[in-house]
Amino acid sequence: MNDEMKISVLVLGAVIIGIVIGASLAQKISGEIKDVSSGINSLETSIKGLDSSIKGVDSSVKEVKTSLAEKELQSFRRDMQENGRRMLSIDYAGKFAKWDAAKKEVDELDKTLQSSANLRSDLSPSIQSFRSTYIPKLKEAADKKDAKNFGTVWTETYNACIACHQGSRASPEAFEILREIGAEVEQLSG
Ligand code: HEC
Repeated sequence: MNDEMKISVLVLGAVIIGIVIGASLAQKISGEIKDVSSGINSLETSIKGLDSSIKGVDSSVKEVKTSLAEKELQSFRRDMQENGRRMLSIDYAGKFAKWDAAKKEVDELDKTLQSSANLRSDLSPSIQSFRSTYIPKLKEAADKKDAKNFGTVWTETYNACIACHQGSRASPEAFEILREIGAEVEQLSG
Protein backbone atom coordinates (compact mmCIF):
# COMPACT_ATOMS: atom_id res chain seq x y z
CA MET A 1 0.00 0.00 0.00
CA ASN A 2 1.50 3.27 -0.95
CA ASP A 3 0.94 6.41 1.04
CA GLU A 4 -1.76 7.66 -1.27
CA MET A 5 -3.81 4.51 -0.81
CA LYS A 6 -3.32 4.66 2.96
CA ILE A 7 -4.67 8.16 3.03
CA SER A 8 -7.62 7.14 0.86
CA VAL A 9 -8.47 4.24 3.20
CA LEU A 10 -8.20 6.53 6.22
CA VAL A 11 -10.45 9.13 4.62
CA LEU A 12 -12.94 6.45 3.59
CA GLY A 13 -12.90 5.07 7.16
CA ALA A 14 -13.45 8.53 8.59
CA VAL A 15 -16.35 9.14 6.21
CA ILE A 16 -17.98 5.80 7.16
CA ILE A 17 -17.54 6.48 10.87
CA GLY A 18 -18.93 9.96 10.29
CA ILE A 19 -21.98 8.56 8.53
CA VAL A 20 -22.65 6.02 11.30
CA ILE A 21 -22.30 8.63 14.04
CA GLY A 22 -24.43 11.06 12.04
CA ALA A 23 -27.15 8.49 11.52
CA SER A 24 -27.33 7.55 15.17
CA LEU A 25 -27.33 11.21 16.16
CA ALA A 26 -30.11 11.92 13.70
CA GLN A 27 -32.12 9.04 15.15
CA LYS A 28 -31.53 10.29 18.67
CA ILE A 29 -32.50 13.83 17.74
CA SER A 30 -35.60 12.75 15.89
CA GLY A 31 -36.58 10.68 18.93
CA GLU A 32 -36.12 13.72 21.12
CA ILE A 33 -38.08 15.89 18.72
CA LYS A 34 -40.90 13.34 18.87
CA ASP A 35 -40.80 13.45 22.65
CA VAL A 36 -40.88 17.22 22.66
CA SER A 37 -43.70 17.37 20.11
CA SER A 38 -45.82 14.89 22.08
CA GLY A 39 -45.08 17.01 25.14
CA ILE A 40 -46.25 20.07 23.23
CA ASN A 41 -49.34 18.18 22.12
CA SER A 42 -50.31 17.28 25.65
CA LEU A 43 -49.57 20.84 26.74
CA GLU A 44 -51.86 22.04 23.95
CA THR A 45 -54.69 19.76 25.04
CA SER A 46 -54.39 20.89 28.63
CA ILE A 47 -54.36 24.54 27.49
CA LYS A 48 -57.48 23.80 25.46
CA GLY A 49 -59.06 22.24 28.52
CA LEU A 50 -58.10 25.28 30.58
CA ASP A 51 -59.47 27.53 27.85
CA SER A 52 -62.86 25.84 27.81
CA SER A 53 -63.12 25.93 31.60
CA ILE A 54 -62.25 29.64 31.53
CA LYS A 55 -64.98 30.06 28.92
CA GLY A 56 -67.33 28.17 31.21
CA VAL A 57 -66.52 30.50 34.10
CA ASP A 58 -66.86 33.45 31.75
CA SER A 59 -70.32 32.44 30.60
CA SER A 60 -71.53 31.81 34.14
CA VAL A 61 -70.25 35.25 35.15
CA LYS A 62 -72.19 36.64 32.19
CA GLU A 63 -75.32 34.76 33.28
CA VAL A 64 -75.06 36.15 36.79
CA LYS A 65 -74.55 39.64 35.36
CA THR A 66 -77.56 39.46 33.04
CA SER A 67 -79.83 38.11 35.73
CA LEU A 68 -78.69 40.94 38.02
CA ALA A 69 -79.30 43.47 35.24
CA GLU A 70 -82.74 41.97 34.61
CA LYS A 71 -83.62 42.16 38.28
CA GLU A 72 -82.54 45.80 38.36
CA LEU A 73 -84.57 46.59 35.27
CA GLN A 74 -87.62 44.92 36.83
CA SER A 75 -87.15 46.90 40.03
CA PHE A 76 -86.73 50.07 37.99
CA ARG A 77 -90.00 49.37 36.15
CA ARG A 78 -91.77 48.69 39.44
CA ASP A 79 -90.48 51.99 40.79
CA MET A 80 -91.69 53.77 37.66
CA GLN A 81 -95.13 52.20 38.02
CA GLU A 82 -95.14 53.42 41.59
CA ASN A 83 -94.21 56.90 40.32
CA GLY A 84 -97.26 56.66 38.09
CA ARG A 85 -99.56 55.75 40.99
CA ARG A 86 -98.12 58.56 43.09
CA MET A 87 -98.74 61.07 40.28
CA LEU A 88 -102.35 59.94 40.14
CA SER A 89 -102.88 60.25 43.89
CA ILE A 90 -101.16 63.65 43.91
CA ASP A 91 -103.66 64.79 41.32
CA TYR A 92 -106.62 63.39 43.32
CA ALA A 93 -105.35 65.03 46.51
CA GLY A 94 -105.14 68.39 44.72
CA LYS A 95 -108.58 68.07 43.15
CA PHE A 96 -110.12 67.32 46.55
CA ALA A 97 -107.98 69.98 48.28
CA LYS A 98 -106.37 67.43 50.60
CA TRP A 99 -103.15 69.41 50.90
CA ASP A 100 -101.52 67.34 53.65
CA ALA A 101 -102.22 64.17 51.71
CA ALA A 102 -100.82 65.84 48.59
CA LYS A 103 -97.59 66.70 50.38
CA LYS A 104 -97.31 63.17 51.75
CA GLU A 105 -97.73 61.75 48.25
CA VAL A 106 -95.12 64.17 46.90
CA ASP A 107 -92.70 62.89 49.56
CA GLU A 108 -93.44 59.32 48.49
CA LEU A 109 -92.88 60.25 44.85
CA ASP A 110 -89.58 61.80 45.84
CA LYS A 111 -88.48 58.60 47.63
CA THR A 112 -89.46 56.40 44.71
CA LEU A 113 -87.65 58.67 42.26
CA GLN A 114 -84.54 58.40 44.42
CA SER A 115 -84.86 54.63 44.40
CA SER A 116 -85.20 54.56 40.61
CA ALA A 117 -82.13 56.78 40.30
CA ASN A 118 -80.15 54.27 42.38
CA LEU A 119 -81.10 51.48 39.98
CA ARG A 120 -80.05 53.23 36.77
CA SER A 121 -76.74 55.06 37.00
CA ASP A 122 -77.12 56.14 33.35
CA LEU A 123 -80.42 57.91 34.10
CA SER A 124 -79.48 59.03 37.59
CA PRO A 125 -78.47 62.62 36.63
CA SER A 126 -81.76 63.23 34.74
CA ILE A 127 -83.83 61.75 37.57
CA GLN A 128 -81.98 63.88 40.13
CA SER A 129 -82.54 67.05 38.13
CA PHE A 130 -86.21 66.07 37.72
CA ARG A 131 -86.44 65.65 41.52
CA SER A 132 -84.76 68.93 42.35
CA THR A 133 -86.98 70.80 39.90
CA TYR A 134 -90.45 69.34 40.39
CA ILE A 135 -90.57 68.09 44.00
CA PRO A 136 -90.10 71.60 45.49
CA LYS A 137 -92.54 73.04 42.92
CA LEU A 138 -95.24 70.52 43.88
CA LYS A 139 -94.70 71.12 47.60
CA GLU A 140 -94.81 74.87 47.17
CA ALA A 141 -98.04 74.56 45.21
CA ALA A 142 -99.54 72.35 47.94
CA ASP A 143 -98.62 75.03 50.49
CA LYS A 144 -100.48 77.65 48.42
CA LYS A 145 -103.65 75.52 48.62
CA ASP A 146 -104.82 76.76 45.26
CA ALA A 147 -106.28 73.86 43.28
CA LYS A 148 -105.97 75.60 39.92
CA ASN A 149 -102.33 76.49 40.46
CA PHE A 150 -101.66 73.01 41.82
CA GLY A 151 -103.19 71.52 38.67
CA THR A 152 -100.88 73.62 36.47
CA VAL A 153 -97.77 72.47 38.36
CA TRP A 154 -99.02 68.90 38.23
CA THR A 155 -99.39 69.06 34.43
CA GLU A 156 -95.93 70.55 34.10
CA THR A 157 -94.52 67.65 36.15
CA TYR A 158 -96.49 65.10 34.15
CA ASN A 159 -95.14 66.55 30.89
CA ALA A 160 -91.60 66.32 32.28
CA CYS A 161 -92.17 62.59 32.99
CA ILE A 162 -93.17 62.13 29.36
CA ALA A 163 -90.28 64.25 28.09
CA CYS A 164 -87.82 61.97 29.86
CA HIS A 165 -89.50 58.88 28.44
CA GLN A 166 -89.12 60.37 24.97
CA GLY A 167 -85.49 61.30 25.62
CA SER A 168 -84.56 57.90 27.04
CA ARG A 169 -86.53 55.94 24.43
CA ALA A 170 -88.60 54.30 27.14
CA SER A 171 -90.79 51.27 26.47
CA PRO A 172 -94.31 51.75 25.01
CA GLU A 173 -95.70 50.78 28.45
CA ALA A 174 -94.29 53.99 29.87
CA PHE A 175 -96.35 56.05 27.43
CA GLU A 176 -99.41 53.81 27.71
CA ILE A 177 -99.60 54.03 31.51
CA LEU A 178 -99.09 57.79 31.48
CA ARG A 179 -101.82 58.13 28.84
CA GLU A 180 -104.16 56.21 31.16
CA ILE A 181 -103.22 58.50 34.05
CA GLY A 182 -103.79 61.53 31.83
CA ALA A 183 -107.22 60.20 30.80
CA GLU A 184 -108.26 59.64 34.43
CA VAL A 185 -107.14 63.13 35.33
CA GLU A 186 -109.18 64.58 32.43
CA GLN A 187 -112.24 62.65 33.59
CA LEU A 188 -111.84 63.98 37.10
CA SER A 189 -111.57 67.55 35.87
CA GLY A 190 -114.47 67.26 33.41
C1 HEC B 1 -84.81 59.99 33.80
C2 HEC B 1 -85.90 59.75 32.92
C3 HEC B 1 -87.23 59.39 33.50
C4 HEC B 1 -88.03 60.18 34.29
C5 HEC B 1 -87.74 61.57 34.85
C6 HEC B 1 -89.23 59.44 34.49
N1 HEC B 1 -89.15 58.21 33.86
FE1 HEC B 1 -90.60 56.80 33.82
N2 HEC B 1 -89.40 55.59 32.74
C7 HEC B 1 -88.14 55.91 32.27
C8 HEC B 1 -87.64 54.81 31.47
C9 HEC B 1 -86.28 54.75 30.79
C10 HEC B 1 -88.65 53.83 31.45
C11 HEC B 1 -88.62 52.49 30.69
C12 HEC B 1 -87.99 51.41 31.51
C13 HEC B 1 -87.88 50.14 30.68
O1 HEC B 1 -88.88 49.45 30.54
O2 HEC B 1 -86.79 49.88 30.18
C14 HEC B 1 -89.74 54.35 32.24
C15 HEC B 1 -90.92 53.68 32.44
C16 HEC B 1 -92.02 54.19 33.10
C17 HEC B 1 -93.29 53.50 33.26
C18 HEC B 1 -93.63 52.13 32.71
C19 HEC B 1 -93.17 51.04 33.67
C20 HEC B 1 -93.43 49.66 33.11
O3 HEC B 1 -94.38 49.03 33.56
O4 HEC B 1 -92.66 49.24 32.21
C21 HEC B 1 -94.11 54.35 33.96
C22 HEC B 1 -95.53 54.10 34.39
C23 HEC B 1 -93.34 55.55 34.25
N3 HEC B 1 -92.08 55.42 33.71
C24 HEC B 1 -93.83 56.63 34.96
C25 HEC B 1 -93.12 57.79 35.22
C26 HEC B 1 -93.66 58.94 35.90
C27 HEC B 1 -95.07 59.07 36.42
C28 HEC B 1 -92.66 59.85 35.95
C29 HEC B 1 -92.70 61.25 36.53
C30 HEC B 1 -93.07 61.40 37.88
C31 HEC B 1 -91.50 59.28 35.31
N4 HEC B 1 -91.82 58.03 34.87
C32 HEC B 1 -90.29 59.92 35.19
C33 HEC B 1 -87.46 57.09 32.50
C34 HEC B 1 -87.94 58.15 33.24
